[in-house]
Amino acid sequence: MITSDKLLPVHKRFDVIFSHGEGAYLFDNNGKKYLDFGAGIAVNALGHCHPKMVEAITNQAKKLWHVSNIYNVNELNRYAEKLANATFAEYVFFCNSGAESLECVIKMIRRHFYVKGQTQKNRIITFSGAFHGRTIATISAAGKRKYIEGFEPALEGFDNVEFGNIEAVKNAISDKTAGILIEPIQGEEGIRVSDKKFIQELRKLADENDLLLAFDEVQCGMGRTGYLFAYEYYGVKPDLIATAKAIGGGFPLGACLATKDAASGMTLGVHGTTYGGNPLAMAVAESVIDVILSEGFLDNAKKVGADLKNALENLKQDFPEIISEVRGVGLMIGVKINDKIENGEIVKKLLDQGLLTIPAGENVIRILPPLIITQEQIAEAISKFRAALS
Ligand SMILES: Cc1ncc(COP(=O)(O)O)c(C=O)c1O
Repeated sequence: MITSDKLLPVHKRFDVIFSHGEGAYLFDNNGKKYLDFGAGIAVNALGHCHPKMVEAITNQAKKLWHVSNIYNVNELNRYAEKLANATFAEYVFFCNSGAESLECVIKMIRRHFYVKGQTQKNRIITFSGAFHGRTIATISAAGKRKYIEGFEPALEGFDNVEFGNIEAVKNAISDKTAGILIEPIQGEEGIRVSDKKFIQELRKLADENDLLLAFDEVQCGMGRTGYLFAYEYYGVKPDLIATAKAIGGGFPLGACLATKDAASGMTLGVHGTTYGGNPLAMAVAESVIDVILSEGFLDNAKKVGADLKNALENLKQDFPEIISEVRGVGLMIGVKINDKIENGEIVKKLLDQGLLTIPAGENVIRILPPLIITQEQIAEAISKFRAALS
């Protein structure tokens, strides 16, 4: 076992070292097998070492790894077309992470009004409980004290209001408001699902007040809800989306999706990136979207998601003193633990049983399996859960 005390101590790590993965399973150094229902926090949408992804990256690795964005690249153009064709987007910008995709969204919103001569319109309404990343702009947008403390001054220009409270949004709108940025299903805060009506009203408010509506789909995007993107579940088209995680399936990749109108300020030279749209990332991302858009894949994710949620509901009936709520959409599920027990304690017990899950806010355990899981793996997970709770 190799350890290191040279890593900046900002991540709390469980005492386990993984050596390899296959499908929905991870294996540790001692050969112990774990059912991975965390998927690297909603990253490994196709599980570990999916054959199509391995094939894509292997072939690409022999061909072309990196060229500058000052040149045209086949893999980049091909994936851009594919992603745009599958979504509302008329423009896409590739970067390397979720936070970077949000930086692009924030810049796009501000710049949209700048080029229209409405320079006073530069504020963005954001929501309590949201997580948008760890850059200065994204911690400022989310407004969570815990993440801002010690890193002040925060970036100006965000009006953070209560999640789900439409009156609070209405009250926050002024002639300086440029946009609304929402994580429609809050992941880090414990799978808090916005009402459909709330999201639909945000669209209406945005239209009435000439605001851009942006969704943070870094965690809930790319099939996680059983829809390619969560906006389809809500029946609302945003003007912008920030996404990452599952789109690369494990290869670092972020993307900002936009309508032509929303992106109207993003002209030559105003934004850029070295690695964004790198051929390796594009080749892998194309293999991911090809599988996710293949016939029946998302329908199956919806179905196994519903079955998993039902099975967890049954578990709640059997352990009412431990589980207080099961919530979520598709394969983005939160199991809320009663206040007297810490979620982390249960996550540890699940890990001991060989089931990986992710702790989240509001004392919730996040269940984010790869989208390829089977009924047998659901049964296996529930049996491990039952053993841990017992
Ligand atoms: C909803 C959401 N937005 C943004 C981010 C930031 O993504 P990254 O860690 O890739 O910068 C995350 C990461 O967990 C997230 O869940």
